[in-house]
Amino acid sequence: MVLKAEIHCHIEGAASPDLVVKQAQKYGADVSGFIRDGAFVWDDFTSFLAAYDQSADLFRDEGDYARLAETYLSSLARDGAIYSEFFTSPDHAERAGLSAAAYTAGLAEGMRRARAKTGIESRMIVTGVRHFGVESVEKAARFAARCGEPLVTGFGMAGEERFGDPEDYVRAFEIAREAGLGITVHAGEFGGWESVQSALDHFRPTRIGHGVRAIENPDLVSRIADEGVVLECCPGSNVALRVFESFENHPFPKLRAAGCKVTLNSDDPPYFWTTLKHEYEIAREHFGMDDKALTSVTRTAIEAAYVDKKTKASLLARLDGAKR
Ligand code: ADE
Ligand code: ZN
Repeated sequence: MVLKAEIHCHIEGAASPDLVVKQAQKYGADVSGFIRDGAFVWDDFTSFLAAYDQSADLFRDEGDYARLAETYLSSLARDGAIYSEFFTSPDHAERAGLSAAAYTAGLAEGMRRARAKTGIESRMIVTGVRHFGVESVEKAARFAARCGEPLVTGFGMAGEERFGDPEDYVRAFEIAREAGLGITVHAGEFGGWESVQSALDHFRPTRIGHGVRAIENPDLVSRIADEGVVLECCPGSNVALRVFESFENHPFPKLRAAGCKVTLNSDDPPYFWTTLKHEYEIAREHFGMDDKALTSVTRTAIEAAYVDKKTKASLLARLDGAKR
């Protein structure tokens, strides 16, 4: 089995409908508005975000988040993943009545349990939600910078990328950068190439969440390749959300051929009927990638990971060992 690594997944978006239904039973909540026949119900980005928010609202204490992280990471490990970096959202926890600190501690507990059981290594990227506003994104950055949880190694911004003025969010990224956190930002998913360029200019990330709409501007593609910015590509998510109408139209192969560093990720797997394993299968089937090419994608993800040098070296050694 090809070893895998994931660096773009929203932990709230990784909760399966089954797990969300169990949470709803625990809290006596009704899920019929966003889960039907065992699947999440949505039909565009706005209704997807609404379903996502309602599901997140059913994770309310440390134990809920420990179970969520442990369940997700264990499933990744079963599918051959050796590393996972997932996005956290203190805003969602606070909306559900839990402090950012307790939320992060719960997730960290789940990560430790998953590692003890399966060996999977993992880290957290705290995110602000762009459409929740500048103040809340800065608050998330301050939390990330000061929380003291060693498993928090990055900061990012998700949500509606067309919302707000990029300049207003610069401070949040500076707070995180000064604290030594890795920087990534969602851009070039529902915004066009200008959104990617603006994100690079304003936030100076080493990685871009999605970034695939950069394909609309060849100069920008060259810049991404030259600067070694890593693209956290999520083809299954893009096709489900109709950013591209089919895998045949997805720019992953072109970006890769142009020398961009590309990775494969599941984003919010059960919402998009995918898993990390399925993303690797999509790349095999639609992008013509073999084991060697897929392993090089895993290598790119590990090289781009926001993890200490020693852990990175041991993950790369594991990858090299598996190739022989
Ligand atoms: N939050 C969760 N999933 C997202 C996505 N695909 N784009 C932007 N924000 C998100
Ligand atoms: Zn995402």
